[in-house]
Parts: sequence; C-alpha cells; structure tokens
Amino acid sequence: MAKVKVAKVSEVPEGELKKVMVGKEPDALFYVGGQIYATTKICTHAQCDLDQNHLMHGEEVECTCHGSQFNVKTGKNTAPPASEPLKTFDVSVEGDEVFVEVQ
Ligand code: FES
Repeated sequence: MAKVKVAKVSEVPEGELKKVMVGKEPDALFYVGGQIYATTKICTHAQCDLDQNHLMHGEEVECTCHGSQFNVKTGKNTAPPASEPLKTFDVSVEGDEVFVEVQ
C-alpha cells in the first residue's frame, strides 16, 4: 500500500468529478457531502470514460453513454445496464492535500 498525493482540496469542485492521476492510472475524485471519494473512472458497462461522459445526481454519477449509475461513496452500480461496480480507493486529507491509497 502506498499513499499518493493526487490533488489539493481546493481543486476538487463540490458535486463534480475531478480527473486525477493515481500513479500512472487516471481515476476520479468526487467531493460530495463534505467528503472526498475516489473511484476508477471507466464505466464497467462498455468502458466509456466518465470524465467525458457523466452527469452528477448527488452522490450518484451517471454514465451518459447508456445511463448506468454508480454511487461514488461505495462504487456500487445502482442503475443498469452496468452490472459491476467501480473500484474505490481510500482517501485521506491532510491540510489542503488529498491522498489516495493504492495497492
Ligand atoms: S458505457 Fe457506461 S452505461 Fe454503457
């Protein structure tokens, strides 16, 4: 496990998706309800990039390619056609810096 600095808190817009690099992998941060969450950003249905194809509904992110939804806190797929969750990462905040735990 390694802790990777990915952004400053002030760079993560509330209620929106922020693309970040976790090591060499592009992932997504979400600032929802005063907390920051991290997930993979490739839809598990047909691999659309959520960074380019999404709408936010509170703590749900919708993939606008075919309408799948995922809970950004848990990664769980909450609306079809996706049948698999997004991967999530542990996030910690120290001062204004956001860290993500990677394997
Ligand atoms: S690729 Fe996301 S819903 Fe189909």
